[in-house]
Amino acid sequence: MPVFFQQQINEHTRLGIWKIEETEEFFSQNVPVQQNVSHPKKRLQHLAGRFLLQFLFPDFPYELIQIADTRKPYLADAKYHFSISHCGDYAAAIVSRDSRVGIDIEIPVEKIRLIRWKFLQKEELQRFTQNDVEFDDHHLLTLLWSCKEAVFKWYGDGEVDFRQHIQLSNRQEETIDCFFGKNESKPIINYRIFGGLVLAWIVS
Ligand SMILES: CC(C)(COP(=O)(O)OP(=O)(O)OC[C@H]1O[C@@H](n2cnc3c(N)ncnc32)[C@H](O)[C@@H]1OP(=O)(O)O)[C@@H](O)C(=O)NCCC(=O)NCCS
Repeated sequence: MPVFFQQQINEHTRLGIWKIEETEEFFSQNVPVQQNVSHPKKRLQHLAGRFLLQFLFPDFPYELIQIADTRKPYLADAKYHFSISHCGDYAAAIVSRDSRVGIDIEIPVEKIRLIRWKFLQKEELQRFTQNDVEFDDHHLLTLLWSCKEAVFKWYGDGEVDFRQHIQLSNRQEETIDCFFGKNESKPIINYRIFGGLVLAWIVS
């Protein structure tokens, strides 16, 4: 059973990462297909993400998932809040009975250097660097990108300008502080870097 990582975040919230080694048939036997995803690899990732929802909470009601105009999947009765991410051979999900959540996983890639000014302000990046050594470190840049993606999903209403609306600061061992200008909130972003993956999530 390829559970790559699992964590009970609190009494009401669980997080899991699945390393996808199964065929599409395995997932589609367990998960009703609600969306047409034409690319086979993306379809496998999509199904693995959905599979994790019931893996984390066995009574998760797949049949009640709706898709917002922003493409955020949700349950209308909010019995569970949930968020999904996939990357390469991994799918991740976080599910909570009582809190809004957002999750993102990434595999660090060097080309993120090329777009770093699209999602970061110079002063913001400087906060994370003791000197210029880390300034274009693609692991650090991927972490900051992943944090902003997690905020985007946690918010869920779209129309977020990553540079303007999301300010990151104060990196600790497993958390990064955030100011989110769209609703003037300060969610704490949790993160891990392990096994070639960057993981970021919010429960708030
Ligand atoms: C929607 C978005 C977050 C998906 O990210 P991604 O890295 O392509 O893909 P991930 O695998 O991490 O996440 C995909 C999942 O996010 C979820 N999702 C999609 N839209 C969402 C939204 N608006 N809110 C919350 N979650 C959303 C879905 O569950 C989706 O998986 P599924 O379709 O299989 O259910 C991304 O495409 C996006 O729009 N990001 C914002 C980009 C942006 O504004 N950039 C500006 C700075 S350069």
